[in-house]
Amino acid sequence: MGIDELKVLVLGGGGREHALVHELAKSPHVDAIQVAPGNGGTAGEPRTINISLDIEDPRAVADYVEDNDITFVVVGPEAPLVAGVADAVRKVGIPVFGPDQLAAQLEGSKQFSKDFMARNDIPTAAYHVFESDERDEAIACLDEMGAPVVIKADGLAAGKGVTVATTIEQARDAIDDSFNGRFGEAGDKVVIEECLAGPECSVICFVDGATVVAMAPSQDHKRVGDGDTGPNTGGMGVYSPVPLVSDATYQEMVGIMQQVADALVAEDIPYRGVLYGGFMLTKDGPQVLEFNVRFGDPETQVLLPRLSSDVAEVLYATAEGRLREIELDWDDLDGVSVVMASGGYPASCETGFPITGIEDAQTIDGVTVYHAGTTRDEQGVAHTCGGRVLNVTALAPTFEEAMRRAYDAVDRIHFDGAFTRRDIGLKALIDKDT
Ligand code: AMP
Ligand code: GLY
Repeated sequence: MGIDELKVLVLGGGGREHALVHELAKSPHVDAIQVAPGNGGTAGEPRTINISLDIEDPRAVADYVEDNDITFVVVGPEAPLVAGVADAVRKVGIPVFGPDQLAAQLEGSKQFSKDFMARNDIPTAAYHVFESDERDEAIACLDEMGAPVVIKADGLAAGKGVTVATTIEQARDAIDDSFNGRFGEAGDKVVIEECLAGPECSVICFVDGATVVAMAPSQDHKRVGDGDTGPNTGGMGVYSPVPLVSDATYQEMVGIMQQVADALVAEDIPYRGVLYGGFMLTKDGPQVLEFNVRFGDPETQVLLPRLSSDVAEVLYATAEGRLREIELDWDDLDGVSVVMASGGYPASCETGFPITGIEDAQTIDGVTVYHAGTTRDEQGVAHTCGGRVLNVTALAPTFEEAMRRAYDAVDRIHFDGAFTRRDIGLKALIDKDT
């Protein structure tokens, strides 16, 4: 199957998927795009429709692909990958961007990921694993390790499974919560981890077998409030590149990602997709905090607009195992992407409000607005339908200008209860000055 006249199925419905669809729709290789479930933004892209499909059911996705002559599948979120959707689609002979179920365990199981790193000498925090019938042993381990200490539910927990405990009591509560079913089966096992310190940075790479093509570093903002205060969220904004990361440190992280890819090959674990390395820059060098087996959200919303290469070519080459033929071209611009969220997020929030001002915001040079939690009504008006509603991305020659553009755009967009952090990108300025 050639790369022309692609009929693409994209799985997912967040800001990340809107960014992917927005770029795919620009490619001359792409004839039509279907997105499951998509959102109000993907619905408005050229040659694109939203469809309804159980994206975590491998059989249902493979059947849909066959019945609708889909020629390429791009998987956004982790859950379908962990469920084995990529395996099922590959089995019916259609290229998929996204790894098989086995490799997806790098994100789907903290224990799998830590054991993989340990046996392959990938720098990461020391750790111990306990099952729910080993509570006493887990508590004894805590006492030995002391606080601060990190407790992680083994399985997927929608970003909520990690507790950085500053006291032993907190750590004990986190273990009890996990064993008492707070995360369902995902919490039946816990990883107790040494607490690392330092700034965080992500290096997101295209990987096929031993070929690794790294994207620029980026920095997410997990806490809901300015100055990194308040509860954790799915991510409130991101900037890229990361001025505090020197070239040498970046190369060190890329080297670690290459070591991971080589280890996957040595262990006979096929990988075709994106591998996201979350790092902590400790005084002893970068250490891996976690892997994700897919594009970051909201990192994608700041990385893809800077990529001047044809995204369809890059994704398809990765899926076909031809990544070594690809060289990525990047715009030499600084990027800031700010999340506009519904009042109350990350706790429960009221939704269903009309959104105005998006078109006006996009008249600002360098600004693109990606939809996340939105739908459109019959008149085509976008309404809020989730916690994180929009990602407002601005590119500019400097971070100062990118921030100015992003917040100018944010101020032109309105819906009831909307809020943002006001400091996305500030760290890039501060780190640059010192
Ligand atoms: P994870 O889902 O594993 O990335 O963890 C979520 C967040 O918890 C990370 O972004 C870090 O801020 C924090 N974290 C995870 N592991 C550690 C660790 N070993 N030491 C300190 N903080 C950590
Ligand atoms: N931004 C973090 C993630 O995608 O998991």
